[in-house]
Amino acid sequence: MVEAFAVASGKGGTGKTTSTLALGMALAEEYDVTVVDADTGMANLLFHAGLADVETTLHDVLVEGGAPVEAATYERFGMRVVPCGTSLAAFEAAEPERLRAVVADLAADADVLLLDSPATLGSKSAILPIVLADRVVIVLQATIPAVSDGLKVQEYALSYGTDVAGTIFNRVRGDVESAAEKADRYFEGPLLATVPESEAAQQARAAGRPLLAHAPDSEAATAYRAAAARLDPRDGDSGDVADRFRSAVVPDPP
Ligand SMILES: Nc1ncnc2c1ncn2[C@@H]1O[C@H](COP(=O)(O)OP(=O)(O)OP(=O)(O)O)[C@@H](O)[C@H]1O
Ligand SMILES: [Mg+2]
Repeated sequence: MVEAFAVASGKGGTGKTTSTLALGMALAEEYDVTVVDADTGMANLLFHAGLADVETTLHDVLVEGGAPVEAATYERFGMRVVPCGTSLAAFEAAEPERLRAVVADLAADADVLLLDSPATLGSKSAILPIVLADRVVIVLQATIPAVSDGLKVQEYALSYGTDVAGTIFNRVRGDVESAAEKADRYFEGPLLATVPESEAAQQARAAGRPLLAHAPDSEAATAYRAAAARLDPRDGDSGDVADRFRSAVVPDPP
């Protein structure tokens, strides 16, 4: 089985990478999980997962005659993690459409694929994960700009046949919970979790470890485990999913 999720937001900095790794670790208790930094222009998953010093990353795979994806895949925190590098030159050399074949290869070996997605919808590389995934997890903060950008991601995903798995409202302070519940009415799929503003999340990032490894008993980690339990990954046929990825036509960005 395999299901591919894009973790997306529209607005930057809402907590996509934190959420990708937290959901990944929680799901890894039950499933074979592979996490990919599909934000190839502004990659930062490597900093959250202690992979800042690795030799080979996704950038080395996304070029003609590049490394096999296995060379950029690291077993960490109970998951397979495919980080991307941060060099601008490597991003410019990378061919984003090659991500289709890479994800197709990874699909053969995973129950759950989580694609940490770029913030904007401005380029082919940015929209690729949302177009290719089965479902999108929309990570929001309870602010008008974040909700507005999240709605655009939803509209775009639905227009390409990508379902909405649900929303995560992150960095919730005080009684913003009710605001999150109100805003959530505009989104398809359930409210997966409201994750509180959490010092542990920031310390985890600084330590280069996912939240669920760094502070598994924190309130934020507990919220992410509840979100993961609501995802209920679908039992997609690995071959079908791989074929879909390989043959997908990536549209021009909106
Ligand atoms: N619940 C939280 N409480 C406090 N800080 C958080 C929380 N979630 C994430 N952060 C912090 O917010 C910052 C942005 O989070 P993260 O890198 O996950 O966002 P992102 O959406 O991936 O950003 P980008 O758009 O730049 O890729 C990080 O420093 C992270 O530690
Ligand atoms: Mg990120």
